[in-house]
Amino acid sequence: MNEIILDAYAKINLSLDVLYKRNDGYHELEMIMQQINLKDIITLRKIPKGIKITCNNPKVPLDSSNLVYKAYVAICNRCNIHKGVWIDIDKNIPIAGGLAGGSADAAAVLKGLNQLWELKLEDKELMSIGEKIGSDVPFCIIGGTALAKGRGEKLKELKNFKDKWLLIANPDLEVSTAYVYGNLNLSNINTRPNTKEIIKCINNDDIAGVSKRMVNVLESVTIKEYPVINEIKESMLKFGALGSMMSGSGPTVFGIFKGKTDAVKCYNILKDSIKQLIISKTM
Ligand code: C5P
Repeated sequence: MNEIILDAYAKINLSLDVLYKRNDGYHELEMIMQQINLKDIITLRKIPKGIKITCNNPKVPLDSSNLVYKAYVAICNRCNIHKGVWIDIDKNIPIAGGLAGGSADAAAVLKGLNQLWELKLEDKELMSIGEKIGSDVPFCIIGGTALAKGRGEKLKELKNFKDKWLLIANPDLEVSTAYVYGNLNLSNINTRPNTKEIIKCINNDDIAGVSKRMVNVLESVTIKEYPVINEIKESMLKFGALGSMMSGSGPTVFGIFKGKTDAVKCYNILKDSIKQLIISKTM
């Protein structure tokens, strides 16, 4: 096998709570992560040595700051390997959008190199390599629906909340995760998610119950900076969403809908006013 092609799926948060700031500078989280069918496509091709990265989106860095580069270095170091790979990224997930696009690509590279080089590493091992690359990488390795704690790397699989229709709206802004956490004032947060209740609703496959309980405490920082996020949330709710929330540190907003008809109806109303609006589904 000389080449392998992988789907790298994005995630949304059905809830995001920050419990406290830790001594290592990170924030202790409790969040529900949900994989969605919006994806980048990653092609890995064997080359004699080194790493070459290409991407259809000129905004994506092709150097060592790209998480796929870090994934390559980490797996080479872990397995003491000196092989080369060409990584091509077909980018569809909005960049720096709160959808874990970079982490999804890194997770796909870890899984793909494991197959391409026949390393036989278990997912658990890949997740432990991945957590040093980015907090969302371990989730992107397992996907589905999960409760995440710690920095986001301590995962418990939940009953799969799949096949729920979504609209994903990116207001064409890039938001730095470090900026959002750095400006979070924990004493200013009035509403927190009731994570246990949301999990109960997930167990009952109760879309309306999940939708009305979703809370993301990071909205307090990102919406203050970019009020357009709130405007999109309100539009989604006005035009048929059961619930709408910012994903991760933002700025991407998603709406959850009762079914495809409602999602398409809302899409047709908002498509001219929101630059990047995508119909998607949980998976
Ligand atoms: O782990 P990742 O590289 O995605 O995190 C980016 C930045 O977000 C970190 O450098 C940190 O400033 C912040 N962060 C945090 N607490 C977390 C996750 C991320 O403070 N649990």
